[in-house]
Amino acid sequence: MSNKVEIRRQRVSDAKRFFEILTNPNFIYFTANPKSMEDEKEWLRGNTLRRKQNFAHSFSILYKNDVAGGCGLKINQHRQHEGEVGYFVDEKYWGNGIATKAVKKLEKIGFGKLRLKRIIILMNPKNIASKKVAIKCGYKKEGLMKKAVFAKGKYHDVYLYAKVK
Ligand SMILES: CC(C)(COP(=O)(O)OP(=O)(O)OC[C@H]1O[C@@H](n2cnc3c(N)ncnc32)[C@H](O)[C@@H]1OP(=O)(O)O)[C@@H](O)C(=O)NCCC(=O)NCCS
Repeated sequence: MSNKVEIRRQRVSDAKRFFEILTNPNFIYFTANPKSMEDEKEWLRGNTLRRKQNFAHSFSILYKNDVAGGCGLKINQHRQHEGEVGYFVDEKYWGNGIATKAVKKLEKIGFGKLRLKRIIILMNPKNIASKKVAIKCGYKKEGLMKKAVFAKGKYHDVYLYAKVK
């Protein structure tokens, strides 16, 4: 059994694991909570088009032969040299460095094949784990973006972390 962290393109067959992971009520700072398995499958089916349109590039995180989470890069459609990283990991694996390793791999794709010049990470200021992931991966805090994210009926401030090539 491999303890290594790998990332690969998401598959529709990952829906069951993603649904289990993302419906965790402890994901308080994460906004992509699928309503049903079919909802999740539909989202995963849309990945091919989003990738082809250079809208988003999504990956599953593999650990111990399990789908342990997901990560991806959303391309800024107004400034296509900039991508935003997102990530999540199953709670049962938290604190093992999985997100940090996955972001490092994702970044290689971003600065490499996708030719990005700037990668950003946004997070709720209270999301300590996410902040630590950004710092451990070498991202620098650029500031607080006021009311930048609309989620669950409200506008939220988010920290902006970034790395440039
Ligand atoms: C954020 C998340 C992806 C981190 O995944 P992970 O695999 O546990 O991350 P890592 O192990 O690489 O790093 C997390 C770090 O935060 C630390 N941490 C976690 N919760 C913490 C807390 N409440 N206070 C202080 N440190 C905390 C961990 O100890 C670890 O630091 P360390 O390596 O110095 O020990 C995971 O918590 C998650 O999926 N959360 C829900 C979804 C989410 O919020 N995604 C990010 C949206 S911006």
